[in-house]
Amino acid sequence: VYVVTGGGRGLGRSLALALAARGQSVLIIGRHESSLSQVAALSAMIHYHVADVSTPAGRESICLHLKKTPQLKGLIHNAGVIDPIQRLGHIDEAAWLNLMATNVNAPLFLSQALLSQLTHGRVLHIGSGVAHFPVAGWSAYCVSKAALWMLTRCWQLESASPAFTSVMPGILDTDMSAIIRESNQMDTDKLAFFQQLKHNNRLIAADTVALFLCWLLLDIETSDYVKQEWDIYDTSHHASWLPPHHLVPPLE
Ligand SMILES: NC(=O)c1ccc[n+]([C@@H]2O[C@H](COP(=O)([O-])OP(=O)(O)OC[C@H]3O[C@@H](n4cnc5c(N)ncnc54)[C@H](OP(=O)(O)O)[C@@H]3O)[C@@H](O)[C@H]2O)c1
Repeated sequence: VYVVTGGGRGLGRSLALALAARGQSVLIIGRHESSLSQVAALSAMIHYHVADVSTPAGRESICLHLKKTPQLKGLIHNAGVIDPIQRLGHIDEAAWLNLMATNVNAPLFLSQALLSQLTHGRVLHIGSGVAHFPVAGWSAYCVSKAALWMLTRCWQLESASPAFTSVMPGILDTDMSAIIRESNQMDTDKLAFFQQLKHNNRLIAADTVALFLCWLLLDIETSDYVKQEWDIYDTSHHASWLPPHHLVPPLE
């Protein structure tokens, strides 16, 4: 079984369907039953569990659900939020903590809780390029993804099995990008950049990223899996997984 958090929509939905198409059993997690059940209805390989990964109670319910599954093949920490998009001078503490609980605490403590079932499995953190450069208005999100990347590095020091790595999936055509395009807290040139990407059809389809993630999870050796922070815009690995009818439009 592969556990995919945030599997009801966006990248998580595409990943669940791609894993199922490769013959893998998938458990998708999210807060909203309606979207999860719609995804699960598309494949007999996909099951769902409603839980909020940002809370201890939500994570406990996931563990309880998986109690009778002795071995998990993988855990993909895909659930993430970008709100609050706010300037640091005004950022709300409760909103900041809520984002950290979803983007950082959940990956740490869910991995910890499932560690004994993940022996020989793979854990994948869905990171972001903004772990490595700041964006005005996105401080909470940037800090969380920088923390997630450091969490990956620390896990790698402490755990060879399960194997941990992190991936930067690129700028995707999902609800999260729509939230970004509607923000009034970003610099105008940055906002225009995101609006232009959408306008010019240069956002990456979640289904394309899902193929990349399946390649990382199913096809490459563990020694390669942990070797780097994977970047979808790095063309050196495209020949290994990117089919001709899928596109990764370069950012420049
Ligand atoms: N979009 C981009 O351009 C982009 C770029 C780089 C990295 N990423 C990363 O890629 C991942 C997926 O992003 P996306 O664009 O697919 O986002 P999305 O369309 O907004 O979907 C987010 C998913 O996370 C789930 N989720 C959020 N909070 C949750 C919680 N507390 N408990 C359980 N599930 C929760 C949502 O389901 P419910 O609402 O039903 O709970 C939803 O399925 C995120 O980690 C994001 O940071 C995205």
